[in-house]
Amino acid sequence: MKKIGVLTSGGDAPGMNAAIRAVTRTAIKKGMTVMGIYRGYNGLIHGEVKELHVRSVSDIIQRGGTILYTARCDEFRHKEGILKGVETCNKHGIEGVVVIGGDGSFRGAADLSAYGIPCIGIPGTIDNDINSTGYTIGYDTAMNTAMELIDKLRDTAQSHDRCSVVEVMGHNAGYIALNTGIACGATFIITKEMPYSVEEITDKIKSTQTNQKHHFIIVVSEGIGGSEELAKQIERETGVESRATILGHVQRGGSPTLRDRVVASQLGYKAVELLSEGKGNRVVGIQRNKIVDFDIKESLTMKKEFDRELYDIASTISF
Ligand code: F6P
Repeated sequence: MKKIGVLTSGGDAPGMNAAIRAVTRTAIKKGMTVMGIYRGYNGLIHGEVKELHVRSVSDIIQRGGTILYTARCDEFRHKEGILKGVETCNKHGIEGVVVIGGDGSFRGAADLSAYGIPCIGIPGTIDNDINSTGYTIGYDTAMNTAMELIDKLRDTAQSHDRCSVVEVMGHNAGYIALNTGIACGATFIITKEMPYSVEEITDKIKSTQTNQKHHFIIVVSEGIGGSEELAKQIERETGVESRATILGHVQRGGSPTLRDRVVASQLGYKAVELLSEGKGNRVVGIQRNKIVDFDIKESLTMKKEFDRELYDIASTISF
């Protein structure tokens, strides 16, 4: 393969730039030309393509966001959109594409592969909700950001003897909620993966109140939502003044942590290796500290276990 493209798609995630850098530098080392495709599959459809040189990716390893911009693209769900993407590849001589994004983006990569342009998917999303990998680029940074913000909320909750209900991102997955919840000493962590009732939460608050606990952190995952209403219910049932905070998109920004930069570099390198071996229609990932790769369609059918043990530990030690 002599020329490849790279794009970022879906929600941005810290570490995507480190992955773009790794893809670009690995490919150039292998004698390939690298084309940056801008604004995800939209850029592929509309021919927003520009060559990336060694220095095009200098000074980006520490930057959040994505220098290639990103988008969610409905047009690429249809055959016409995919065919326009193939046309752009053919016009620019792009023989393979590295797609950095979530599993919605991998579906596009599978479709493009089926139409003759081999693609490799790199998991990039703060949610860690891709089942074929234990880790997605951006997850660690987002969790650390959420942890720092929840620590700040704890200061004010403690000063006012309040309950702080904090909603963290994660789409339908509770991984960010679980980990930030345990790291911030949350009284209760609410995720879709584990059953709960409001009564259970208010009972726990009441029982810990009798044990001299006066402020509370409840972490709610985005997939559950309803934080404002929950805060009102808690205040009504327990008499503890409560406030809701939705952390929102601030969790997607910022300089990537060491872990995100390292994993992004490893996966970017591996993706280009696969393309250079003539392989396509695959996703790369990390399982038990090893780099792995799977057929895209197969990866989309995989299941990932929620860490119930960690959830139980968090529940046991917060009272
Ligand atoms: O997938 C990353 C993510 O931030 C999710 O946690 C969230 O559900 C979604 O993207 C928000 O999407 P948007 O930026 O389009 O509002």
